[in-house]
Amino acid sequence: MKLAIVGPGALGCLLAALLREAGEDVSLVDYRPDRVARLGRDGIQVHTLEGGHRLVKVPIGLPPEVGACDVTIIAVKAYQTATAAQALPVLMSAGGLALTLQNGLGNLEELARVAGPERLLAGVGLLGVTRTGEGRIVYAGQGAIFIGVPAGSRVSGTEVAALAEILRHAGLPCQAREDIEAVLWEKLVINAGINPLTALLRVPNGALLELPPAWELAVAAATETQAVATAAGLTLTGDPEARLRQVCTATAANRSSMLQDVLAGRPTEIEALNAQVAKLGQTLGVPTPVNHFLTQLVRALGAAVALRVG
Ligand code: PAF
Repeated sequence: MKLAIVGPGALGCLLAALLREAGEDVSLVDYRPDRVARLGRDGIQVHTLEGGHRLVKVPIGLPPEVGACDVTIIAVKAYQTATAAQALPVLMSAGGLALTLQNGLGNLEELARVAGPERLLAGVGLLGVTRTGEGRIVYAGQGAIFIGVPAGSRVSGTEVAALAEILRHAGLPCQAREDIEAVLWEKLVINAGINPLTALLRVPNGALLELPPAWELAVAAATETQAVATAAGLTLTGDPEARLRQVCTATAANRSSMLQDVLAGRPTEIEALNAQVAKLGQTLGVPTPVNHFLTQLVRALGAAVALRVG
């Protein structure tokens, strides 16, 4: 089976490296020729929290160089989905499928606008992986991937099971889920609580547990998100605070993806996370003041760089 991973960020590099080490026919896909040349030459460095380190050479190319694949995994930031979607007609073979493992809402819809919904899969990655440089990641070695068939898709259960098996064989704990839409929202509950606060305070995930005022806001954002999901007709299992606590503990040393974006001076995914919760909350009549407040603060954070003193 030929696999493509679109996006050489933290998650993309991790998936590509582990699949390659497991002997899969996998390529990374990027749209920047300069980065393609460097990563092709230098490979991917995978570091562990215990200080271990290995170098994995993964084939990498622009979409036409990689060509048609059986499985295309989208691992770009939510604000890059529209650009990544343009590559799908080149990357998806006849009968091929595409899986999004991105944060936030709206990614599936963006991909379906170009590729149609029939061959799309949705998923979430709860992996503690940090990008510390181009092609350089630190993998905490835990977490899980859930994948499933979203509304409108015709991908079969057998295909989902086969893909889950490939990911598991590469050392990635992957489970097929029937209720993938609820799983996406369960991830959103976590991201809405952890990502903006870690980015604003510039702390690792575990620090939120040590900062009572920040924890209170994180729990409030997560609780509002769960209330919006419920109003949208989804059944999320468990208590948002308990879920947040579990992920903050499991990824305590990890820098959230939004913190990594802020530190690198990149745009953040706030529009696909808390902003979407606030917008949908307004439509459904669910109050989401904390999500709105955090959205505005993260928006201001990006814009304030140019105006800062000292
Ligand atoms: O976006 C992230 O950083 C991750 O989804 C998570 C699970 C919050 C861990 O840092």
